[in-house]
Amino acid sequence: MHVVLRKWSGSDAAELAGILSEDDVHEFISDLPRPYTQKNAMEYIAAALNSSDGNFQSFAIEADGRLAGCISAERGKNVYRMSAEIGYYIAKPLWGMGIATAAVGKLVQFIFDNTDIIRIYSTVFAGNAASARVLEKCGFRREGTLKCALVKNGRLHDAHIYALIKGETLQ
Ligand SMILES: CC(C)(COP(=O)(O)OP(=O)(O)OC[C@H]1O[C@@H](n2cnc3c(N)ncnc32)[C@H](O)[C@@H]1OP(=O)(O)O)[C@@H](O)C(=O)NCCC(=O)NCCS
Repeated sequence: MHVVLRKWSGSDAAELAGILSEDDVHEFISDLPRPYTQKNAMEYIAAALNSSDGNFQSFAIEADGRLAGCISAERGKNVYRMSAEIGYYIAKPLWGMGIATAAVGKLVQFIFDNTDIIRIYSTVFAGNAASARVLEKCGFRREGTLKCALVKNGRLHDAHIYALIKGETLQ
């Protein structure tokens, strides 16, 4: 699959809403509106396009010319300013094709090549083996467990934190 990260376009809204109409995509990500409507998607895309301070960047993931998901990075504040947290999701019918691994790899390269960020990390629901595997395939290392850090659907979950330091694996 040919995977590219590109800017969002208003015309992605219907497909983005379609991707987020699938319950399983929501299981291990931050809470988003449910149902996720085309209006929600338009608002997200507008915010991504208008985010001007450079501290938050969101990209559409395109696989073989088709919208496949979303990946974003947010720079930390104050003493965390040389770190960035990433998050991502892929349309359920496209799971298991290497798209997230390719997208994370491309985002990491983009951040290390274009910013002064030296630490990229992601916190993963403890039950999210697929995402943990994606991060490991991209060279991230598990640093520890944040006990009861997440609450989702009325239940507490542990989070595993994975990080990649510039120069340690990729460069
Ligand atoms: C997690 C997610 C992004 C993975 O996307 P994807 O494009 O399917 O990922 P890839 O195909 O690049 O890689 C998935 C890897 O996980 C493995 N995997 C999948 N399900 C697994 C499971 N239950 N247990 C262990 N490994 C699993 C796959 O075999 C593959 O590894 P491999 O290449 O060594 O075989 C996707 O499932 C998703 O969008 N989930 C919902 C949102 C989410 O969890 N986002 C991440 C938040 S941190």
